[in-house]
Amino acid sequence: MARTVITGGLVVTAAEETHADVLVEDGRVVALALPGSQRWHAERVFDASGKYVVPGGVDAHTHMEMPFGGTRASDTFETGTRAAAWGGTTTIVDFAVQTKGAPLRAGLDDWHAKADGRCAIDYAFHMIVSDVNAATLDEMPGLVGEGVTSFKLFMAYPGVFYSDDGQILRAMQRAADTGALTMLHAENGPAIDVLVEQALARGETDPRHHGEVRRALLEAEATHRAIQLARVAGAPLYVVHVSAREALAELAAARDLGLPVFGETCPQYLFLSTDNLAEPGFEGAKYVCSTPLRPRDHQAALWRGLRTDDLQVVSTDHCPFCFKGQKDLGRGDFSKIPNGLPGVEHRMDLLHQAVVDGHLTRRRWIELACAAPARMFGLHPRKGTIAPGSDADLVIYDPHAVQTLSAATHHMNVDYSAYEGRTVTGRVETVLSRGEVVLDRGQYLGRPGHGTFLPRSTCQYL
Ligand code: URP
Ligand code: ZN
Ligand code: ZN
Repeated sequence: MARTVITGGLVVTAAEETHADVLVEDGRVVALALPGSQRWHAERVFDASGKYVVPGGVDAHTHMEMPFGGTRASDTFETGTRAAAWGGTTTIVDFAVQTKGAPLRAGLDDWHAKADGRCAIDYAFHMIVSDVNAATLDEMPGLVGEGVTSFKLFMAYPGVFYSDDGQILRAMQRAADTGALTMLHAENGPAIDVLVEQALARGETDPRHHGEVRRALLEAEATHRAIQLARVAGAPLYVVHVSAREALAELAAARDLGLPVFGETCPQYLFLSTDNLAEPGFEGAKYVCSTPLRPRDHQAALWRGLRTDDLQVVSTDHCPFCFKGQKDLGRGDFSKIPNGLPGVEHRMDLLHQAVVDGHLTRRRWIELACAAPARMFGLHPRKGTIAPGSDADLVIYDPHAVQTLSAATHHMNVDYSAYEGRTVTGRVETVLSRGEVVLDRGQYLGRPGHGTFLPRSTCQYL
């Protein structure tokens, strides 16, 4: 493989910022040196003067081809990982899904079959457990041995993915025994279903009612319950897609007690709000996801949580459904709108915008988007940093370029953008994945099958 040198950039990791040349050999970073101090011979040289050199992004929460509400997320592993690469993400951790009544193994095999030979960037899997029973619990240690070291359970979606408290406790106990991390979708599903039924009976069918029935208090209550169940089980806990400030307060209180409790939020909760859900006509359907978007005044608490480390990770929860033919399954009944937003392409840019806006420092940007997800899910230091021995997953990032996000220019396989018309400062210029150039100055050079499955070790914060 070609020796590659990236010269003159500002190398930004979670730990430091240094002007350095970076030498890549055989798919790995082998050395960093003072700019111009080494006469490295290389077949390929990238001049990153005036640019940042950052680790490839690690998106720890995606749903390619996820079945939901009678349809399927519109990005395949091929289209979704290509879009991720366009946005400077070089690793995804996707959720393999257990079908109720079937073993975990069948779901995991299915996900391997979907991804194998199709990905532009490296990938790993979490496992969604939709059917906690004795057989499923017995399968968990085997999956951990194969590098699937985290399990997602749902307190929401009764009849679909939902587990009751007893099932959650049992799964947490088994996860703790095997060193795995339990991930929780923390919303009180049975209570939400009552509110959905009552809202529909009152004729409240528009997308905005999705946000109203999925009350912040029901996210907070479920988060509190998840924390207490994890304490009883002696298990670490990772709460996915936190959107309500009341839920964040539960996480912060648990962390203040020194409990191994972690939280993730997503760009949609930081940049979008119930104002979008209330857009006229059926437009609000574009913003239906769960947990739901919250009133704008929750955002300040989320930004603060990201700064104070009460939230450790920003993932996308990328789960795209086209407006035509998918989101419109819920015209006249918001509860039938498939839940999920497209976003895998925009996370690095939106978080860079947060640096420009003064919400985050540059190093915190890289920590939240690269280093912390890699550590949380057992991929560090191979992924998430730039250091001798790390995979050469590198992004040359132009912090001054201005771009406008739009469905007309994005690469995700979905017919709308949740950020249509939004201008952001900063843009990915070049992307390397294990030393191979995937993208350079607007030209896509990647290929399906370059990306390989990453067996993960266990959470590195424990
Ligand atoms: O609305 C969402 N978040 N869809 C994806 C499934 C999930 O709960 O993460
Ligand atoms: Zn969820
Ligand atoms: Zn999700």
